[in-house]
Amino acid sequence: MEKQKKSFKPNKKFIKNANVNSEDIYKTGLDKESFWGNLANDLFWHKKWDKVCEENPPYSKWFLNGKINVSYNCLDRHIKNGKQDKIAFYWEGENNQEKILTYNDLYLEVNRFANALKSKGIKKGDRVVINMPMIPEAIVSMLACTRIGAVHIVIFGGTGPIGIKERVIHAEVKLVITSDGGYRRGKIIPYKEIIDQALDQVDCVKDVIVVKHSKNKIPFNEKRDSWYHDLIIDAKEFCPVEEMDSEDMLFILYTSGSTGKPKGIFHSTAGYLLGVYQTTKWVFDIKDEDIYWSTADIGWITGHSYVVYGLLSNGATQVIYEGALDHPNYSRTWEIIEKYKVNIFYTAPTAIRTFMKWGNEWIDKYDLSSLRLLGSIGEPINPDVWLWYYEIIGKSNCPIVDTWFQTETGALVISPLPGISALKPGSICKALPGFEAKVLDEKGNETNKGFLALTKSFPSMLRGVYKEEKRYLETYWSKWDGKYYYTGDGAYVDEEGNINITGRLDDVIKVSGHRIGSAEVENALVEHPHAVEASVISVHDEIKGEKIIAFVILKESASDSNKDIEKELKKLVEISIGRYARPTKIFLVDELPKTKSGKIMRRILRNLLIKQPIGDVSTLENKSYIPILKNIIEEIQL
Ligand code: WTA
Repeated sequence: MEKQKKSFKPNKKFIKNANVNSEDIYKTGLDKESFWGNLANDLFWHKKWDKVCEENPPYSKWFLNGKINVSYNCLDRHIKNGKQDKIAFYWEGENNQEKILTYNDLYLEVNRFANALKSKGIKKGDRVVINMPMIPEAIVSMLACTRIGAVHIVIFGGTGPIGIKERVIHAEVKLVITSDGGYRRGKIIPYKEIIDQALDQVDCVKDVIVVKHSKNKIPFNEKRDSWYHDLIIDAKEFCPVEEMDSEDMLFILYTSGSTGKPKGIFHSTAGYLLGVYQTTKWVFDIKDEDIYWSTADIGWITGHSYVVYGLLSNGATQVIYEGALDHPNYSRTWEIIEKYKVNIFYTAPTAIRTFMKWGNEWIDKYDLSSLRLLGSIGEPINPDVWLWYYEIIGKSNCPIVDTWFQTETGALVISPLPGISALKPGSICKALPGFEAKVLDEKGNETNKGFLALTKSFPSMLRGVYKEEKRYLETYWSKWDGKYYYTGDGAYVDEEGNINITGRLDDVIKVSGHRIGSAEVENALVEHPHAVEASVISVHDEIKGEKIIAFVILKESASDSNKDIEKELKKLVEISIGRYARPTKIFLVDELPKTKSGKIMRRILRNLLIKQPIGDVSTLENKSYIPILKNIIEEIQL
């Protein structure tokens, strides 16, 4: 049992006005069929479902035989309700450029662009890649795909060309949407050039649509490429929506796991939409007059669920910001909150730790009194960081929702409800109404400290791993014989019965909230012609949460040119995965600690790095190399 920490109750005014403020909702949520069935009535259905849920793990289905469209629910529904002039987005560029889009503006642009996609031959079920900076056209592209039933695959802007190519080939993508460039710390990120490299010798992509944004000169392949603005002008104004079956695939999002290649997680249409719609309402307590800002990029699940679909399905107003939070200076975040009078702010612990490091003087001169609710996502938040966020940003007046979910769960699963829960720094509270999460032991019995499991089906759960059914079953459902979903996280239950996350138990590393598979980094490193073997581990980092450390064995012939090899190895990781996965340090070694059966003992590497006893070495084969390894590590301060 962990020691008791102080807890915080939301203030009376917040409770009174909260979208949910009665504990009864947890009880109602126990009857999941009638609970989710009732909530689903808020959405617009072309045809209502015959049955709410067919619980059949690992293949549960929701809203069977219903017909629904996501774009309709995010746009048309609000316009029909008289909200056409409501602002959907305040877009802020890195250099203070501004753009405002009402729901009607968004509706018109999405309709036109959906027709443009159709004119390129895109139809229901086709896969479309979106690789773009945080600009309105990126969101228009996502919505246009959902309007015509195309399956979008958003790829994070920092992904390297090899990573993009692998996804494009794996999903047999027909069309790519990108931009001429995007801004980051005053520099232009060359999106189009990266796409050109990624598509070199790829046959499946017939069209590339380019948004003119940074207006820098780019290579243009007349046969394959077209400009977004040309297509929009030529396109018809109205595009009827595709009536999608509830269980039709909505999107694929690739994410890292324990093995070498990212998995294409796919979601259903109705269940996903309902999950993000409802959790936005509950957890972010979204109101018609609120202005919401999430710093998440649309390349990750948080951007999909809590920038695009959760907020737009609620008809909310939000800020999106393209650039870096430290550009042109460390006050950028607070300047934006003051400028747009942001009420709800959602970011990652990494960002909060960075704000803390920069110092309060960058914050003090800004008026943050518009804030009423704060959120955190993506990795465990240390209690001291939670308290700083609460006091310095929230002025001890805003509840903090420490929200837990995964690419796989689509919507938030475990989180405080800000009008109900007593908040405890570092605790994610308990499963939201209609969801069920338990901490289990190896055998599937409830315990205080163990594996985090999701033990009941819910609408927004992933429906599979694209083209890899076996992997789907093995990764998520094999631990407890197909009965419960295994999250990959370790957790404990505290004295109040609340869940606290201890971190990943598999080989997934979280660097600044980005999800990276250690095997993926190892695979990228051994692509180097001089590399023989690699082992990647992570150690704690004050700001980024974790940092990646790699050990690489080189061929003997490489010894003369070792000087630049570390740089080259890092570059390889950058083009194969992305900059965010670059190891902080690469140790060039002659051997790796291995068991007699040849398994690398990562524990020894980790303990040597953090200067802890290496523990039991009875199964270690090459004991004599340990002192040498220790010397190599000690010579370099991390
Ligand atoms: C971690 C990110 C602690 C967790 C939305 C999970 C968290 C993984 C929290 C999913 C939290 C997410 N506290 N850890 N509040 N939220 N995680 O798919 O390890 O990129 O399994 O989705 O992030 O990462 P993903």
